[in-house]
Formats: sequence, structure tokens, C-alpha cells
Amino acid sequence: MDIVNPAVEEYLLAHCTPADELLRDLVAETRTLPAGTSMQISHDEGELLTMLVQLTGARFAVEIGVFTGYSSICIARGLPPGGHLLACDISREWTDVATRYWQRAGLTERIDLRIAPALETLHALPADRAVDFAFLDADKPGYPAYYEELVPRLRPGGLIVVDNVLRGGRVLDETRQDEDVRGVRELNEMIAADERVQTVMLPVRDGITLVRRR
Ligand SMILES: C[S@@+](CC[C@H](N)C(=O)[O-])C[C@H]1O[C@@H](n2cnc3c(N)ncnc32)[C@H](O)[C@@H]1O
Repeated sequence: MDIVNPAVEEYLLAHCTPADELLRDLVAETRTLPAGTSMQISHDEGELLTMLVQLTGARFAVEIGVFTGYSSICIARGLPPGGHLLACDISREWTDVATRYWQRAGLTERIDLRIAPALETLHALPADRAVDFAFLDADKPGYPAYYEELVPRLRPGGLIVVDNVLRGGRVLDETRQDEDVRGVRELNEMIAADERVQTVMLPVRDGITLVRRR
């Protein structure tokens, strides 16, 4: 299912602040990898992340799912001087690409990369409410557990952005029971019933959910 008509998606991209040379180069290099660009967020989604980080005044952000670094660059660019992004992934191969682009973007000081299962990294964070912003874009079966680690650590007014919450519309189809769809579906239900947060789901690309801690 197309969440948004492809012609509308093109129009949206054409009316978004354009990607700079560094982001365009990153997309071009990612395209040459066996994984390709299918896991990478789109440019309009990246601009939205930068804007949301700026609007929330975030100083400490967490990203679950770095890949080659497109979303990390967009998040880190929204942080103020002295702000930090904790970037979580399990792949050295993909994040080696990311770290080269972080260097080129002058963002190395702002980004702390942790190569480990993200659940372990989150679990080891202090329990106080210090996270201002989080972006969730890793293995889908892990989504509910990541959310449960993140919400208690989110400051009041802090924001979680969850990616791929529609899975190409498959979350609506109860005959689809693969573990990725089940993970996302379970999280969508958890968020909708969670009184600790205020939430809205938006048809941006593959669907995103904004979750704001009360
Ligand atoms: C969809 S990609 C992230 C795309 C990235 N946000 C971007 O804009 O290019 C998902 C990433 O999650 C990582 N991942 C998968 N399982 C993980 C886990 N258990 N802990 C941390 N990262 C994981 C993968 O290695 C992959 O890089």
C-alpha cells in the first residue's frame, strides 16, 4: 500500500529545504552498498527530525538504529553547542560509513557511538529523566522493549519519534503476523493506551509516531 500517493511524495520533497552536498554524497555512497538506501530515512523526514530537535530545545538525544548515519546527522545538526547524541547500533560495517560522514560534517564531538544491542545500552543509562529526544528506527521486534526503556528516562516535554509505524500498511492487515509487523503493531497499541504520554501518528513516508512525555 502507498501510504502517500508517490506524486504527492515527490511534491513534498520538492518543497522541503534541500539536502546539502554532504547528505547527497551519503545517499550516493549508501546506494553502492549491498544494503542500498532502503533502510535510510528520506530527506524530508531528516529535515523534520532536525526541526523537532530544535523545537524541543533538546540537549541530550538518543538514536536507536544508525545504519550509515543519515538520521544521526539530521538529529545532531539540531542540537545546540554542547548537546550530545547517543547513537546505538550493532553494525561496525555500516557505522564506519556513518563516522566518516560525522567527521566531514564536524559532528564527531557531538555523537557518542555505542556498538552493542541497543537494549543493553538503554538499560545501562541512568534512570533519571535526562533524555530530551529519541529516534527509534532499529529492529522492529525490539520496538516495545526500547519504548519501555525510553519513556521513564524522558524528561517532561521530551519527545520520541518512532519510524515505520505503518510498515507499508501491513499493520492494518491482521492476516500479516510476521515478527516485524507484530513488533510495530504491539508498540502502536502500547503507545495509544499509555497515559504517561501524548501522541500523534502521521503519514510521513512509512508512518511516524510522535510521543511527548507529559
Ligand atoms: C533502518 S536502519 C536505520 C536507518 C538510519 N536511521 C538512517 O537514517 O539511515 C536499522 C539499523 O538498526 C540496527 N540494528 C538492528 N538491530 C539492532 C539492535 N538490536 N541494536 C541496535 N541496533 C540494531 C541495524 O544494524 C541498522 O543499522
